Amino acid sequence: MLEQIKQLMAEVQAFAVSTEEELEEYRRKFTNKKAVINQMFTDFRELPGEIKRDVGKPLNELKQMAQTRLDEFQQSLKGSQAVANRPNDLSLPGDPGLPGARHPLSIVLNKIVSVFEGLGYTVAEGPEIEDDFHNFTALNFEDNHPARDMQDTFFVRRDPDFLLRTHTSSVQVRVMQENQPPIRVLAPGRVYRNEAISARAHCFFHQVEGLVIDEGVSFADMRQALQYFANAMFGEQAKIRLRPSYFPFTEISAEMDVWWGLETEDDYRMTKGTGWVEIMGCGMVDPNVLRNCGIDPDRYSGFAFGMGVERISQLLYRVPDLRLYSQNDLRFLRQFEKIDA
Ligand code: PHE
Repeated sequence: MLEQIKQLMAEVQAFAVSTEEELEEYRRKFTNKKAVINQMFTDFRELPGEIKRDVGKPLNELKQMAQTRLDEFQQSLKGSQAVANRPNDLSLPGDPGLPGARHPLSIVLNKIVSVFEGLGYTVAEGPEIEDDFHNFTALNFEDNHPARDMQDTFFVRRDPDFLLRTHTSSVQVRVMQENQPPIRVLAPGRVYRNEAISARAHCFFHQVEGLVIDEGVSFADMRQALQYFANAMFGEQAKIRLRPSYFPFTEISAEMDVWWGLETEDDYRMTKGTGWVEIMGCGMVDPNVLRNCGIDPDRYSGFAFGMGVERISQLLYRVPDLRLYSQNDLRFLRQFEKIDA
């Protein structure tokens, strides 16, 4: 019997289980009521006393060992089955998933586009990697204009004639080169400037450019379009003002502010104590630019504007720090789930 115990111990040790069927076989062989080990306990009772002493201990050990192995097999099988069964277990509660939300900049961008679509503008696009001509030269920038400086513009190292566009005005040029008036387009897109990243500045941001060229287009037309936009964006009570400014590609040029308010400390900070927030540059397209792009300045005139999407989103949603737009912090992004645009 001792021999048989040793033999069985070896068999129990060697047994491996990876399926339900193998587990069943193990049970049948070693641990069931009718299995050999239990049978041996019955035989054991019949043994003479002195042999019982020698056999009792190892027999108990064998039984113990077989049980321990069984527990181990059951554990490991349960673990692997939990994984294997998961996709098929229709009784598990569903995975609700997260619906996701539009980014606040996309929400604002879509709104801007839809306001101007209502005025008959179509959307135009241009490349983010531009050449010097479309970003600067055609737009009447002097060769030594500071905007071309390494400090402001990201140039492509291999060929400094190429750069990351610093404004969407480059798309104006492309549109005028390819189309004769009447032109009425909107060009949304990402732009890049070599700025130190802070709450108020980033090395990339978004603009929406507008361009209208036709016979007899005046500054008053521009003001009207921009007032209409401000009302659609910020509400019927929205006030705007145009301040004289300078851009190489517009003459006359202006900057447009919207009234923000001056009641809280935040308002002071946001508006630098004026109550007004600048949201875009604009002006009448310089005749030189029309000429550079193949449009007759004696016949046609037009206006252009370029606004910052981040800034407008800041106004609408009171976003205190520009960096929030690109940090992908879900606590920030989730706040926009309920806004549909
Ligand atoms: N491109 C100018 C900027 O980035 C904005 C602008 C666009 C000004 C069109 C006038 C006309 O600041």
